[in-house]
Amino acid sequence: MKVKPAGSIQGIVELPGDKSISHRAAIIAAIADGTSRLDNFAASADCTSTLDCLRPLGVEIRRDGSTVFIDGVGKFGLKKPEAPLNCGNSGTTMRLLAGILAGQRFKSVLTGDDSLVKRPMRRIIEPLEQMGATIASDDDKAPLTIHGRYPLRAIAYHTPVVSAQIKSCVLFAGLYANGETSTIEPSLTRDHTERLLPLFGVRVGTDGGPASKIRFIKGTSRPTATELMIPCDISSAAFFLVAAACLPGSELTLPNVGTNPTRTAILDVLECVGAKLPPRKDAERRGEPADTLTISGGLDEQEAPLVIEGAAVADLIDEIPILAILGTQLANGLEVRDAGELRVKESDRIHSVTENLRRMGASVTEFDDGFHVERSQLKGAVIDSFGDHRIAMAFAVAGLLADGETEIVGAECADVSFPEFFETLASVVKS
Ligand code: S3P
Repeated sequence: MKVKPAGSIQGIVELPGDKSISHRAAIIAAIADGTSRLDNFAASADCTSTLDCLRPLGVEIRRDGSTVFIDGVGKFGLKKPEAPLNCGNSGTTMRLLAGILAGQRFKSVLTGDDSLVKRPMRRIIEPLEQMGATIASDDDKAPLTIHGRYPLRAIAYHTPVVSAQIKSCVLFAGLYANGETSTIEPSLTRDHTERLLPLFGVRVGTDGGPASKIRFIKGTSRPTATELMIPCDISSAAFFLVAAACLPGSELTLPNVGTNPTRTAILDVLECVGAKLPPRKDAERRGEPADTLTISGGLDEQEAPLVIEGAAVADLIDEIPILAILGTQLANGLEVRDAGELRVKESDRIHSVTENLRRMGASVTEFDDGFHVERSQLKGAVIDSFGDHRIAMAFAVAGLLADGETEIVGAECADVSFPEFFETLASVVKS
């Protein structure tokens, strides 16, 4: 894929449905009683992987455009799959489904592509084994052979790494436990699981308010089917928002974007560097807030470097590749620290970002747990996506800001979260 420098970006961008919400809604709908209707279901290859893993478990699924109908088999209705379930590139599919499969009275195998089988799975094996499942792995990596058990033992689990996937996995397993299972997070991660479950009739308790880091679920709960309108994905919006912010004269509108407070840190960062985002209303519809985002181009001159560290890292975990590109446009650059988790995403994102920034002539330093990038005039270069969708899309935006042409090798991996990304970007770019 080749990208040319842009003057500005202008127009309206229709984004895909939220990936995190789509995975969870599909999994809960599969074990619900009745047929669920999920509108604006994510077009992403990752969410298709989730649907493709649910079918061999006996779940009937129909897709009509962006609407997905799921005939739930009920909490105890899943059947033993004949073959390994292929989660593709999707860590969320593997880690969340493992929670459900741990509570089944059958054996199942979860596997994935070359990237997914290198990613750490101890983080979910540990709690699921504490709950009574037995999981064989390849040195704590997939393929995972899950010997489920019913009922599982209810546990109180302190998640050792800040991860919504671990929390969700344990809460899903808690649906099959003999008592009340709880998760305690070091800091609150995206809370879609606990917002969605009540819409399917399953109560998720907290020890006080939505910002609480403790969640409880009862093993006696049974999900029932529901209808949902999934908001568009703010993590996909991030590429367009940063592009617009960095190109003065840009005017962009992004309708119906999910503005769940556990996902909006990217908007706070953009505001902090002077991007013009009007106030939002965040109207809540069926558990999740959403709003039309508009942005006008232009950034302030910052006196200090933008620093992302500590608890802020988890709030921005999927946005750091595109924030690295923003960093090249800030007077004092960007420093990211405490972000070792980036090394175990779809690629080693600290390496993917720093290597590609260097190729574009940026001044960048790599640390074990992050990187520092200075304000740099980017130059067109040949970029390696490292098979990572967010790297491909972030460097497409870098290409808009660079001198000369940028070529992104392996750009098709953008399909993992945003199949029409390059066409959509081309439709709003003005030279
Ligand atoms: C996700 C959680 C995050 C994020 C991933 C999606 C989710 O991973 O990086 O893209 O849907 O729960 P971790 O929870 O492992 O940080």
